[in-house]
Amino acid sequence: MANTTSIRLLVAEDVPQVSQHVRNLLSIQSQVKLLEVLTDGSKVVDAARQLRPDVVMVDLLLQGKVKGPQLIERLRDSGLEIPVVVLTVPQHPLARDPNRGIDAVLTLPFSGFELVNTLAHTMTDRQARAAGVCRVISVFSPKGGVGKTTIAFNLAVAMGQMGLSTALIDGSLQYGDLRALLKVPNDVPSILDLPTDRVQQSDLHDVMWRDPAGIDILLAPPRVEMAEMVTARDVEKTISLLRRLYEAIVIDTPTTLSEVTLALLDSSDIILSIVTYDSTTIHNTIAVAEAFASIGYTADKVRYLVNRADSSGGISREELARAIGRKPDFEMISDGRLVVQANNEGMPFVVASPDAAVSRDVRRIATALAGRTAGAAVRH
Ligand SMILES: Nc1ncnc2c1ncn2[C@@H]1O[C@H](COP(=O)(O)OP(=O)(O)OP(=O)(O)O)[C@@H](O)[C@H]1O
Ligand SMILES: [Mg+2]
Repeated sequence: MANTTSIRLLVAEDVPQVSQHVRNLLSIQSQVKLLEVLTDGSKVVDAARQLRPDVVMVDLLLQGKVKGPQLIERLRDSGLEIPVVVLTVPQHPLARDPNRGIDAVLTLPFSGFELVNTLAHTMTDRQARAAGVCRVISVFSPKGGVGKTTIAFNLAVAMGQMGLSTALIDGSLQYGDLRALLKVPNDVPSILDLPTDRVQQSDLHDVMWRDPAGIDILLAPPRVEMAEMVTARDVEKTISLLRRLYEAIVIDTPTTLSEVTLALLDSSDIILSIVTYDSTTIHNTIAVAEAFASIGYTADKVRYLVNRADSSGGISREELARAIGRKPDFEMISDGRLVVQANNEGMPFVVASPDAAVSRDVRRIATALAGRTAGAAVRH
């Protein structure tokens, strides 16, 4: 990372060999300043309050009165708003989970580069979140063909029209749905053209496809088999960088919950889950809601959008709400003629026919998700 700002680090570590390893790695660089290494977990919150580090690193296996997991919880609840990087070993794998105060995970052994990069990303990610400068919204559904790509594209364009600098990411890495929708030539760069080790802002500018509708699009690889070259780590890094460049990021996702899809969802502030009045879609949506809850996603992170809300297929609004356990947040009507034609022309329908009811629905959803107006956008 080209960033030269100094990162003030506080470490909670009681294994001398590990703290020595961290000290050694940090001694040969200047970006991170190590404030102190504390071996006693019970002293960390007070020390953080006093020293005001940019990042706290906690060993998950920290022993003593206040053990690793407890310390992570105390830091999260302290009101200090300092991001926490959790250090672990391969035998104790742990997932990043900002809601639980785990802003990043470092698994031993790691290199100095990994250490510094993780600390830098964690700090800037938290700053961007705190400033509320960027909203990352994943459009997801555990059922195919419900309108994810169509909604992601039009939602991004609607946010762009609201004056937000907006990026759209084609997270359907295998089929590149947006590439197909926009009829982008195969030689246009994709997420694969980003360097895997040190992604910088200038690299991103070179690979983003500028759509005439005013948004920047990060395309999926041009061929199916290339999708597996993109790792979860790559997408995490890419999103954390894009967060600094844009005010809104919309992600089109595939139906399968792969490791990469989960990384996209993890990195999102909001998961816009698309449902339709179709029993299989509803069934899968319930199953995924349970999975989301067990990963620790809060109810507030997931929002439900009922697409083709005027085609109920014999299922009532109340039945749908009962099945998914809450009232859907948004509704969007069906408009076969406009939507299909606009899609076939690679045009956003919010531009092709801004006054159509379906376009108004998308704008209402965009406004609510951008945080400009409170409240849901369900039509009554
Ligand atoms: N509100 C709507 N009214 C009319 N047609 C719609 C609407 N939403 C989506 N469609 C149509 O439904 C079809 C599927 O949409 P889309 O490709 O966006 O779904 P998807 O969830 O991305 O599918 P996949 O699972 O294959 O990625 C398209 O032909 C699209 O034009
Ligand atoms: Mg799609």
